[in-house]
Amino acid sequence: MRRLSRRTVLKGIAAFAGSAGLARPSLAETGLPILRAAPSSAQLAPAGYPATPVWAYATEGAGTVPGPEIRVSAGERVRHRLHNDLPQPTAVHWHGIRIENAMDGAAPLTQAPVSPGDGFDYDFEAPDPGTYWYHSHNRSMEQVARGLAGPLIVEDRVPWLGEPGAATREVTLVLDDWLLNGDATIMEDRWDDLHAAAHGGRMGNTVTVNGAAYPDLDIRPGERVRLRMINTATDRIMRLALPGLSPRLIALDGHPVPPRAIEDLVLAPAQRADLVVDGRKEGNPRAGLLLDPGNGEWVDIAAFVHAGDTVAEHDQDVRPLPAWGTLPTPDLSDPQHVPMLMEGGAMRGMREARYHGKTMGFRDLAAQGMVWAFNGVAHGMDAPLFRASLGRTVRMELTNKSMFPHAIHLHGHHFTVLAKSGSANLAGDVRDTVLLGADETVEIAFVADNPGVWMIHCHMLSHQKSGMMAWFEVA
Ligand code: C2O
Ligand code: CU
Repeated sequence: MRRLSRRTVLKGIAAFAGSAGLARPSLAETGLPILRAAPSSAQLAPAGYPATPVWAYATEGAGTVPGPEIRVSAGERVRHRLHNDLPQPTAVHWHGIRIENAMDGAAPLTQAPVSPGDGFDYDFEAPDPGTYWYHSHNRSMEQVARGLAGPLIVEDRVPWLGEPGAATREVTLVLDDWLLNGDATIMEDRWDDLHAAAHGGRMGNTVTVNGAAYPDLDIRPGERVRLRMINTATDRIMRLALPGLSPRLIALDGHPVPPRAIEDLVLAPAQRADLVVDGRKEGNPRAGLLLDPGNGEWVDIAAFVHAGDTVAEHDQDVRPLPAWGTLPTPDLSDPQHVPMLMEGGAMRGMREARYHGKTMGFRDLAAQGMVWAFNGVAHGMDAPLFRASLGRTVRMELTNKSMFPHAIHLHGHHFTVLAKSGSANLAGDVRDTVLLGADETVEIAFVADNPGVWMIHCHMLSHQKSGMMAWFEVA
């Protein structure tokens, strides 16, 4: 056996440092910048409460909630080596990115979950500009609830910021919902709350904006700002308003929309919206970001505080964001029709569903932690919900036969809303996550142009965990 002398070891290290360039501790052996998932702590509750132990992402130093903002230009690559310092296996999903399948992070479908102490190299192109996010996709209910989520911003291909009618500054607002005990620790016995799962999901008691309760954000009078809003909550659908700041919607789930004035904005879990707001020139210097907690009584969750010199007039119409130009147009002349029926939950339930190949009644399903089904199958991971041939247009009819809203997300694709009942969407919107109210139907279409196996699920993670999970194959 060859004994390694101290000299050979040192030589080896020197050679490695040379090949990897700078021997910075944040660079992994592969040379990819590290994205570490590890326990950390964060001051989520208002001042006077202790910090909350969380699980968080870090690119350097201690992990933060939300995780560090990752930014690339459209067409550039996102490159990170996930290093798992958590006590559980994990994986990172890059929500909304039309990504290559092997990089989707959808454990266990597209990769094995990464064990504690291990790593995984994520290296993929981000083709479309917009506001996205990344989050854990293993034991998501628990891991996202503990803080494993962060913003992913893909910058405009054609300059928009600073152009006439556009904003001069942008701010990312990550909205989250935490279920905290009186000592600000996360309630850890609620991941399996089947009662909550059979209703609207696990609701928190502390809403944060960029990881803080009721923060002050600055704005100058007359200043036009782009807000990139992301709902990273596990289950809370957020109805938001920005009275006095004349909000106009410019993008949904990363995709530009013709600028439109809005009274309020509904953001389901995982959805994003980009708004343009104008700082007001007179009146109360504090302008609240308001949330309807579900009873119509708006509460402030953050405040824009007006200070500084007034910015020159912004009388021009809001400049639309540059079009993507990268999304194929669905061919509706002969699409593949895929119905998707959502059933289950409290108050209506379902007579029966298949689970792991066995047909069971509602009580037996509930005993397995399953209270929801797509097309009569709960947690349908054994076989695909549908298969599409590469390049074919798929037209889905999503029907919610339950008493609760659902936020349906397709991996790897964005889709066009064709028709809908209810109020949450407009026909023509392009999204990756669509909200359906009770008894609503939404028709969507997309070109199945991204080969691979892709998850489709409710992004209310309590529902995902308790049956609303499936996948489809494009080949
Ligand atoms: Cu945000 Cu399955 O994803
Ligand atoms: Cu749901």
